Amino acid sequence: MSFNLERTIKDIFSKEDNKFRYLLTKYLDMLFKWHEINNIVSSSDNDYVIKREIYDSYLLNNYLKGNSYTDIGSGGGIPGIVISILNPDKEVILIDRKSTYIDFLTLAKAELNLKNTKVVQRDVLKTESAFSTDVVLLKNFSNKTISKMSYESKFVYLMQMIKKSEQVSKAYMLTGSPVLKLSRECLREFSVNTQVITSPFFETKRIVAEVKFENTINS
Ligand SMILES: C[S@@+](CC[C@H](N)C(=O)[O-])C[C@H]1O[C@@H](n2cnc3c(N)ncnc32)[C@H](O)[C@@H]1O
Repeated sequence: MSFNLERTIKDIFSKEDNKFRYLLTKYLDMLFKWHEINNIVSSSDNDYVIKREIYDSYLLNNYLKGNSYTDIGSGGGIPGIVISILNPDKEVILIDRKSTYIDFLTLAKAELNLKNTKVVQRDVLKTESAFSTDVVLLKNFSNKTISKMSYESKFVYLMQMIKKSEQVSKAYMLTGSPVLKLSRECLREFSVNTQVITSPFFETKRIVAEVKFENTINS
């Protein structure tokens, strides 16, 4: 059977209301069309993107605590747009440094009428301005500066960068099993709580790592 977006969303998100399914379908329709030209998601297999990237982002929402979220390296809006649709009363900021993503995110925000959402073009590793939300989200954040680092070095580098923002009390990273092998030294520096999320679609499990920062306004 050929891929049908509406039917796939209806089947997978049967427990959610019509509004959620409508907005998600609209978002994914835009995302997949943009991807054909600008390559903005990790795979061209739409069924895989929904079952892995979107469904895992949907599950991530169950673990989030906090009132406002910044998704850094948001790319095509994963997980930020899913979190925004699920939390219309919470502020969501989507940050990326590349214009292609920013153009897409700006259009998606307008088309979905996401009044809670702000799109910001910024290089988070270069600029000194602080994050203004109490939570930072990350999924597959990577670039040339950090891609050659070991998993742990990258983790420490990113958490040290996020921690500089006094407003931020927690970071949530949707990640893979290497987070379960962080060294004692790293776990002494950061308070990390991990939860394995079980996907009904894949055997490979993803992990939600919650990192709490001390000495912050909101902790
Ligand atoms: C592998 S993609 C992941 C996108 C999305 N989070 C996902 O999981 O599909 C990494 C994203 O991080 C962005 N990025 C990399 N370095 C960045 C930086 N220093 N500041 C802001 N965004 C950055 C890239 O432009 C890209 O969109």
